[in-house]
Amino acid sequence: MAVKFYKCEQQVPLEMHKVRMIQKLSLLPVEERLKKIQEAGNNTFLLQNKDIYLDMLTDSGVNGMSDLQFAAMMQADDSYAGSETFNRVKAAVKDVFGCENVLPAHQGRACENILAEAYVKPGMVALMNFHFTTTKAHITRCGGSVEELVDPKGLLPQSDDPFKGNFNLANLSQRIDELGSDKVAFVRVEAGTNLIGGQPVSLENMLAVTDICHDKGVKSVLDASLLQDNIYFMKTREARCKFMDVKEIYHLLADHFDIIYFSARKLSFSKGGIICSKNPTYTRQMMEFIPLYEGFLTYGGIDVRTMEAMAQGLYESLDMEYLDQGPEFINYLAKELSDYGVPVILPAGGLGCHLDCQAFVPDMPHDQYPAGAVAAAIYIAGGIRPMERGSLSEQREPDGTERFAELELARLAVPRRVYTLSQLKYVADRIKWLWDNRSLIGGLKWVEEPSVLRFFFGRLKEIGYWQEELAAKFRQDFGDSL
Ligand code: F0G
Repeated sequence: MAVKFYKCEQQVPLEMHKVRMIQKLSLLPVEERLKKIQEAGNNTFLLQNKDIYLDMLTDSGVNGMSDLQFAAMMQADDSYAGSETFNRVKAAVKDVFGCENVLPAHQGRACENILAEAYVKPGMVALMNFHFTTTKAHITRCGGSVEELVDPKGLLPQSDDPFKGNFNLANLSQRIDELGSDKVAFVRVEAGTNLIGGQPVSLENMLAVTDICHDKGVKSVLDASLLQDNIYFMKTREARCKFMDVKEIYHLLADHFDIIYFSARKLSFSKGGIICSKNPTYTRQMMEFIPLYEGFLTYGGIDVRTMEAMAQGLYESLDMEYLDQGPEFINYLAKELSDYGVPVILPAGGLGCHLDCQAFVPDMPHDQYPAGAVAAAIYIAGGIRPMERGSLSEQREPDGTERFAELELARLAVPRRVYTLSQLKYVADRIKWLWDNRSLIGGLKWVEEPSVLRFFFGRLKEIGYWQEELAAKFRQDFGDSL
């Protein structure tokens, strides 16, 4: 919220809520942190939460829940079929998006599985601004492929473009024509484009994409998992949206996209997943897969209490005083770091603050996984858990060769309504220290490389003894501090 301070060095994001339930955290000494990251195969997914001070792996399923969400959970109506709880979820989806046709699935990737099962046939192509890991994995599993059409500006680590997630519209039209509309499984717009730094797509661009799809007879799909942040950026960066009501934006999008799905682990501060549409034909085409993979049509694998939290959380996703929590905290962290010279993705997006690791360790080749190495180093430096979003998070090509990422990012996700500003100041401080000691950071090599979604459970080893040297330098600089 843009509440002005009387005397303050930079604009400080101010919470319009208070914390009423807490969880104790612990910060291990640097020598222990060194041991833990090596035991975890230098993969931050394999760290244990008890060994982490600030968990910035993701904003997925770890957002702060409100008093009203907890209260709503008490009224859950538990039944296999026809529960009142699902009717409340439907009513919330109807209110927020204006869609009557609602299918539940246990999380975002489950929605993607169903979309892929229903619409991707071998040889088909799904066009999108940018892929997400699980989206691509499901499409390729069904014999399809993914092509990315983000405007090239989106791949510049730093620019002043307010909507770096935008589609290149000319390329979209051309690609549909070249492929023929029957070969295009669907066009997917990812709001708050995750893998390029949580970068938004403008309303104008989204609507232009759907216009092209309608013209050419191709289905349009909105991945709304990160739409909350995206709407904050529409409201603050796009003249046309400034005076629009938040709900008006949701409704306009639902009027234009054929299908919308989202991970409720992100949108709605809860858990679960939803596919919805104004057109019952689409939900009918996907419906049969819900009982097959997820559960009956009125719970879709989601616990009823969680569905109640989702329904309430959906109403909260209309409130700008909640929507601004992520982007404004992220912007604060990104500014602290970039003012010090640390290379971060700019403008700051949603989801988290993203370090540009190609610039952090410029001499490290892609095949030593610079983003993975920086992520491991951040844990050693501060007990902070980032996520690698670079070449490790890519899939190898079908012929086994590496597909190196366009951007080598270490992501510091900022879960909504969870961390305080002093904790973000601590993060900035430890990363500034790491930046000053970046010459110590070395590379990683595979020890165990899974063939699918390797970043989740693959194990790597540090090359040489750089991590011991980094921990020793920390001890030297910080004395007996944790
Ligand atoms: N789409 C987007 C844009 C996402 O960011 C995610 C998840 C999904 C779909 C899948 O949803 O996790 O509920 O199955 N992103 C998480 C992240 C995992 O950490 O960025 P899910």
